[in-house]
This record gives sequence, C-alpha cells and structure tokens, in this order.
Amino acid sequence: MVSRFAVSGLFLLLVVACSDRGPSYPKVTPPDGYLQRAEYQQEGRRLFRQLCAECHGRPAEGRSQRADFFHPPAPNFTSPAYRQADPAYLFWRIRKGKTVEPYLSRGSVMPAYGAHFSEEEIWSIVAYLRVRSEVLSD
Ligand code: HEC
Repeated sequence: MVSRFAVSGLFLLLVVACSDRGPSYPKVTPPDGYLQRAEYQQEGRRLFRQLCAECHGRPAEGRSQRADFFHPPAPNFTSPAYRQADPAYLFWRIRKGKTVEPYLSRGSVMPAYGAHFSEEEIWSIVAYLRVRSEVLSD
C-alpha cells in the first residue's frame, strides 16, 4: 500500500516536472514596424542607457561586471540569442520585472517598468535588445 502511494507520488512529480514549459505571458504583438525601424531601436537604446545600463551594462562595456553581483544574475544582452527572443516575452519582463513568478521567488532585483513607460517605449526597448549584439560599438 505504502509503496503504491510512493509510486503514484513519483509519477505525479514527473508529470508536474514535465509540464513546466516556462512562464506563461500574454502573446502580444508590437505595433507595425517597431522591431525593424532604426529610429525605434535608437529610442530604445537611449532609454536603455538611462535606466537599464547601470545593472545590465553600457553599450560599450557589453555585459556589466555588476551583472554577477545579483542572484539571479542579470542576463547577457550582448548575446546574439536575443535576436531570436520572443518580443512578447521581453515586453512582459520589462513591464512586470521581479513582480511575477518564478522571478519573485528567485529573489530577482529586476524592477517593473510597466508604470514608467508607455507601451511604445517598451516596444522600442524590445527592438533595441533584439539588435543589441550588433550595435555595441558606442
Ligand atoms: C537593479 C538592477 C536592474 C535594472 C536597473 C534593470 N534590470 Fe533587467 N534584470 C536585472 C536582473 C538581476 C535580471 C535577472 C533576473 C530576472 O530575470 O528577473 C534582469 C532581467 C531582465 C530581463 C529578462 C531577460 C531574460 O532573458 O529573461 C529583461 C528583458 C530585462 N531585465 C530588461 C531590463 C530593461 C529593459 C531595463 C531598463 C528599462 C532593466 N532590465 C533594468 C536587473 C536589472
């Protein structure tokens, strides 16, 4: 009896573990042209330098040395992997920051910027993050 409990418990754990496909977030799409147009990417770069670079690194510096002082650490936006990042995911993370799970429980320090920026401003930062690996020269 006990062992049957243990077995079904283990099975349940496996099911829970396998169904964890990352956080769910709204599948929103940017206004037309926001990801492609250089003027929006430039606007995103300007906002990033002002508010995000202190933790995430200035453009010329690449990834900030300070990034590793955080637990969990700040991500590496100089990575070309962000070219393929889901824009809706980046948009959600910038709006909600550490206020949503699983980041809340992990002790993230990422601020929530939803109340500070318009949606267009956040989309312009998303546009910048997706090309940041290519525009680090200044
Ligand atoms: C106080 C330091 C700090 C500031 C300021 C900050 N961040 Fe973060 N950010 C972090 C840390 C630490 C993480 C990693 C933990 C997490 O994912 O919540 C993170 C995570 C992120 C992620 C998730 C990346 C991924 O691959 O999952 C995005 C997107 C992001 N930050 C964008 C920004 C933007 C845009 C700004 C400025 C508007 C900004 N951050 C300002 C510390 C900061």
